[in-house]
Amino acid sequence: MRGRTAFLLLAAFLSLFTVTYLSSAINMRSFITSLPYGLAFAGTALGQACQTTTLTSSVPTEGSELALATYSYCGGTLNATAYIANVNYNKQVNLYYTNAQGQSTPLSVVELGYTSSIGDDGTWELWGTTTPTYVDGITELLNLTYRAVDIGQTYVETLNLRINATGTPPPTLPSPPAPYASPRGFGNDITTWLSINAETTTAFERMFLNINPAVPGAVKGVVVAARSGPTYTQTNPDYEYNWVRDASLTMDVVQMLYSAATKTKAKTAYQDILFEYAYARATEQNDPGLQTGLGEPKMYLNNTIFTGPWGRPQNDGPATSAITLMEFANNYLANGGSIDTVKQKIYDSATYPANAPVKKDLLFVASNWTSSSFDLWEEEASDHFYTRMVQRCALVMGAAFATKMGDSSTSARLSAAATALSATLSQFWDVNRAIILYEYGPVLAGKSSYLDIAVILGVIHGYAGDGVYSYTNEEVLSTAVRIATAFIDVYPIANTTKDSAGLTLGIPIGRYPEDVYTGTGTQANGGNPWYLCTAAMAQFLYSASTEFGNAGSISVTNTSKPFFDYFAPAAKVQVGHTYSYGSQRYNQAINGLNGWGDAFMRTVKHYTPADGHLSEEFNRNTGVPEGAGDLTWSYASILTAAFARAQLRGQKAYVKNLANTGVSANKAP
Ligand SMILES: *[C@@H]1O[C@H](CO)[C@@H](O)[C@H](O)[C@H]1NC(C)=O
Ligand SMILES: *[C@@H]1O[C@H](CO)[C@@H](O)[C@H](O)[C@H]1NC(C)=O
Ligand SMILES: *[C@@H]1O[C@H](CO)[C@@H](O)[C@H](O)[C@H]1NC(C)=O
Ligand SMILES: *[C@@H]1O[C@H](CO)[C@@H](O)[C@H](O)[C@H]1NC(C)=O
Repeated sequence: MRGRTAFLLLAAFLSLFTVTYLSSAINMRSFITSLPYGLAFAGTALGQACQTTTLTSSVPTEGSELALATYSYCGGTLNATAYIANVNYNKQVNLYYTNAQGQSTPLSVVELGYTSSIGDDGTWELWGTTTPTYVDGITELLNLTYRAVDIGQTYVETLNLRINATGTPPPTLPSPPAPYASPRGFGNDITTWLSINAETTTAFERMFLNINPAVPGAVKGVVVAARSGPTYTQTNPDYEYNWVRDASLTMDVVQMLYSAATKTKAKTAYQDILFEYAYARATEQNDPGLQTGLGEPKMYLNNTIFTGPWGRPQNDGPATSAITLMEFANNYLANGGSIDTVKQKIYDSATYPANAPVKKDLLFVASNWTSSSFDLWEEEASDHFYTRMVQRCALVMGAAFATKMGDSSTSARLSAAATALSATLSQFWDVNRAIILYEYGPVLAGKSSYLDIAVILGVIHGYAGDGVYSYTNEEVLSTAVRIATAFIDVYPIANTTKDSAGLTLGIPIGRYPEDVYTGTGTQANGGNPWYLCTAAMAQFLYSASTEFGNAGSISVTNTSKPFFDYFAPAAKVQVGHTYSYGSQRYNQAINGLNGWGDAFMRTVKHYTPADGHLSEEFNRNTGVPEGAGDLTWSYASILTAAFARAQLRGQKAYVKNLANTGVSANKAP
């Protein structure tokens, strides 16, 4: 669903003019407000003016398909325009340069966007970019490339132009801001809101309404992404589909409920749903309509493939589906289930291809993890940290699980792939930006901050429990504080920092600062905070707190200090120090993380309407719900955050009590 995919689909139907308006809106947005920490000052406002070099002011002569027209590097921002021949519809135009060290890397590339058509016949177009590149620096423009996607042609103009900085001096990367509040400890309001028969029960019931939905033609084992689509009358956006990702993350919650339930009726109901889900996943794998292998992202509710234009493949899906089903299988076995049933209905795709999906998905991940694919927001084909993390988790779990299934050769393959994949993860760490990059590649869709909550979701959905990129990893902590605080200057409602009782509200969190997706379309400055992203920040802090507790201490590094300075200022932690469990500073630090965790949940609560229903988003200006109604993933995210909070508080019966209420509440819509 979401964002650019809606855009891609629209592109097939709308006039060229409308489509290009959207893409130029994206460029404008990235220019105006994409810089975190209020860096969006104009390079020319003070001091020296920009100096633009004009290479040509007319379209190239015959025999050429592209030409760089102008460029400047001003106030730390690279500006360029280029003439591009309109030889086909889908174009990709990139400008390659060398960074301050004179190196060319996957990051030293900018993507140009369509600006305007030239002349009346539409044979030439002007494309351009305005991208801050000061973090990596820039010394030379290497070449301009133009990929005419539909006709499979790539054209190159060699440049080799030295760059001179003009305008104000390039900025340096700012530190995260000082915190606007210092909440401490858990809030009773959040404990009440998340208690049974309050929001948690609403989320539970609404989530189950979207599993095996009562919609004509829907088959067992599918999850409708939202109550937004033809049957539920809110036709825009149309989320009346079964997405592989959303289904797997939802079924992971069902799996947690299965594991915790002690009442037979409830437990059996979850078990039935999970076996139906396994069967549905196997059905998807065997669909003749697969266009890009098992990374096919989206199905109708009758579980046949949606074959229209879409961002495919999305190779996180096979991984998250396998994770959910392996977790279920492990719990099923622990509850006395038979290994033969697990082989026949979950694992052994080689012998039971119509029923058992896991082995096939795991082998797909093992042989395809190096391929670029679309991200969890369905917008960009690249190498994504989120996708790698969930793939890694699937491979690590899969190696152990295959051994349990007596399948040592598969185990060895998965294990080897996990090792190879793990060795690539360090490339996502960007020491200059002090963040884990959401993708390792050029700036796409104007996301020049490289910040995306997807990194935090990658840890939540993809941490394998083995110390690799865990919740308390210093690089993860540094990323968390920078992504969270980046939204302060983006969303006007971030200025509301207290609720009516005077309690601190956390920062509203969206997907990424440059987002233009409004929930129904795209618009400059249109991106909104999302319930599931804000709940993810809460869940992340709860789980980090739990992990520090299990470790018995907090060690602070240069890299992690800004995280503590923001979320636990009272602890006044020092670089190079280790604070033991129970010490005063340890307690102050943990109180800070727990206080902010609840502050983020309070933001979710604050913008949840009185009936407890959760859409996808809440409006950046007004806080009212936006986008798809009753988004299944929103409900799943509330439940997993609540479970993480209960775990942190040692409330062992919390999930069990919810699970034991059972799914009899699953009535018609
Ligand atoms: C599945 O549902 C879609 C959308 O309603 C429909 O176009 C398609 O024909 C259905 N396929 C089958 C096999 O029923
Ligand atoms: C990897 O992906 C390709 C196509 O994307 C597919 O042909 C191949 O079968 C996949 N590997 C496995 C093991 O599924
Ligand atoms: C919040 O308020 C401050 C002034 O009080 C203002 O400078 C800032 O732009 C506001 N932020 C947003 C996102 O509107
Ligand atoms: C942290 O950074 C400061 C300044 O950059 C440096 O002086 C100090 O040695 C660093 N400390 C550690 C533990 O790396």
